[in-house]
Amino acid sequence: MNILVVKANNRPASEAVSTKMYETFMQNLEGVNVTTYDVFAEDMPYFGQDLFNAFGKAESGEEMTDVEQRILAAKQKAMDALKAADVVVFTFPLWNLTIPAKLQTFIDYVYQAGFTFKYDENGQLVQLMTDKKAVILSARGGVYSTPEAAPMEMAANYIKNVCGGVFGMEIIQEVIIEGHAAMPDQAETIIAEGLAKVEAVAKSLSAVTV
Ligand SMILES: Cc1cc2nc3c(=O)[nH]c(=O)nc-3n(C[C@H](O)[C@H](O)[C@H](O)COP(=O)(O)O)c2cc1C
Repeated sequence: MNILVVKANNRPASEAVSTKMYETFMQNLEGVNVTTYDVFAEDMPYFGQDLFNAFGKAESGEEMTDVEQRILAAKQKAMDALKAADVVVFTFPLWNLTIPAKLQTFIDYVYQAGFTFKYDENGQLVQLMTDKKAVILSARGGVYSTPEAAPMEMAANYIKNVCGGVFGMEIIQEVIIEGHAAMPDQAETIIAEGLAKVEAVAKSLSAVTV
């Protein structure tokens, strides 16, 4: 089994709870092939006209600019990483109600008709990643699991809608640590309980059971 971990926070684990979730997951995973795709470490130009120009030039053979070459290579690398994975683990924070821009860029690279989804002859969406599973590990300082606040949450919801709803991956596990900024007196317990769940997820995906 190949596990791809998409790490989407470059803040240190001493400060960022979602980085702590990433590290806890990695420390407790055993006996499987695991690759980290670190969106902050990768060279990932923003999605836009540069990519479409690069597609055109790839076809015509015209020489590409530096950014066109970089975006084409980066997109291919992200798609190859996703293609090789049986399970994709997303570790990310909620920042300003949504995901970090670098994670958005990863999604932009792989969100492609003919690769992650397609339309059939009746115009219906067909999911093309139904053989893959996804795991969501996310932290958010406020509480968004109440019915009133849930529609404001556009990080975990977004990743689940994209990976589950459009790409067709089965979301097999989800750990959300929330409320530690809103309720600082309970933060230690909230974080410890969440990390214990992350540990259990990693062990459940490990080939070696101790
Ligand atoms: C730049 C930034 C923006 C944030 N925006 C929000 C927010 O909109 N709502 C919220 O409840 N918490 C917000 N937080 C708190 C984080 O959700 C909290 O720190 C959580 O642990 C995830 O981020 P982290 O993994 O970087 O710690 C924000 C934190 C940072 C650093």
